[in-house]
Amino acid sequence: MHIARVADLPGVAASELAALAERCQLQASQHIGYVSAVAPDIEAEVLQVDDWIDWTFVAHDDRGVSGWLLAELDPEMGRVWWWGPFAAPGRWDDVADRLLEVGRGVLASDIDEEELCGDSAHVELAHLAATWGFEKAVPSTALTASLSEVPDVGTARAAHVDDAGSLAALHGALFAGSHMTPETAAAVGSDDRIRTVAEADARVVAYAIAEVQADGTGYIDFLGTDPGEQRKGHGRAAISAACSMLVERGCEEAHLTVRETNMGSRTLYAALGFREERNLMPYRKGFSLA
Ligand SMILES: CC(C)(COP(=O)(O)OP(=O)(O)OC[C@H]1O[C@@H](n2cnc3c(N)ncnc32)[C@H](O)[C@@H]1OP(=O)(O)O)[C@@H](O)C(=O)NCCC(=O)NCCS
Repeated sequence: MHIARVADLPGVAASELAALAERCQLQASQHIGYVSAVAPDIEAEVLQVDDWIDWTFVAHDDRGVSGWLLAELDPEMGRVWWWGPFAAPGRWDDVADRLLEVGRGVLASDIDEEELCGDSAHVELAHLAATWGFEKAVPSTALTASLSEVPDVGTARAAHVDDAGSLAALHGALFAGSHMTPETAAAVGSDDRIRTVAEADARVVAYAIAEVQADGTGYIDFLGTDPGEQRKGHGRAAISAACSMLVERGCEEAHLTVRETNMGSRTLYAALGFREERNLMPYRKGFSLA
């Protein structure tokens, strides 16, 4: 069995890797977090990752592809999110550790923060993560809602360029060290993300950030309210407006993840119609989030 980058294996297509991953994604005991469940959606997601052919590692032998692992890098943050490992039936023990070893071996030295994530039932991933010195983080719950059922409370609006300073300040205070920097959170109009804000006394006090995913569903990435303005309906308004904008872009369904321990926001999401889909366990090395 050999491990090579897709760039060095011209015969391997994203569709073949996606088909292999689909078999894993459909079972909780093999499911990897933040990756779609069905092959066409997985393929579309892989193709959206920058330089994916250089950063996807494939285990192969004369029987074909037996596993793969993709490194999604954020050089600015110095962080990598590992997608996988995905293993063909019965091949985890042969390929998972080797894939991670090779992938980690080619990371630049300034990438010193790593995350693996899988369904809480993925025992083999938990074991692999522990072997490589990753620490368990607080588990998250993945939620989904049918957008036709999310009420439109109608008191928040799309963010303007002028809101950038407020967005950066709120995001920096509420989500320090998360996968999005305050600069990106505030970059209104410079990407396809949906950003909504709720105001009180003409001041931005809450915001939501969402995007349309490769599979056409919506993803609510962030929701936050100024601590001094919580429990006044602003968070509900901001997410409701984000859901309406996702509908305008053709989404029928929305997803989000929330820490299992964040009971306040789980109550909010449940009241809006979000239902639990699965429990995800992140494993981190080189960083932790408060
Ligand atoms: C989660 C958060 C965005 C909620 O914002 P908010 O503006 O306070 O929420 P709302 O006032 O719109 O709350 C709507 C409903 O959600 C529920 N809720 C919100 N916060 C709650 C809390 N701390 N405890 C219990 N229920 C809560 C309540 O049912 C509330 O309705 P009620 O006040 O009439 O009882 C805010 O607490 C926050 O910014 N937290 C830190 C960041 C965070 O955890 N974001 C979510 C990450 S997934």
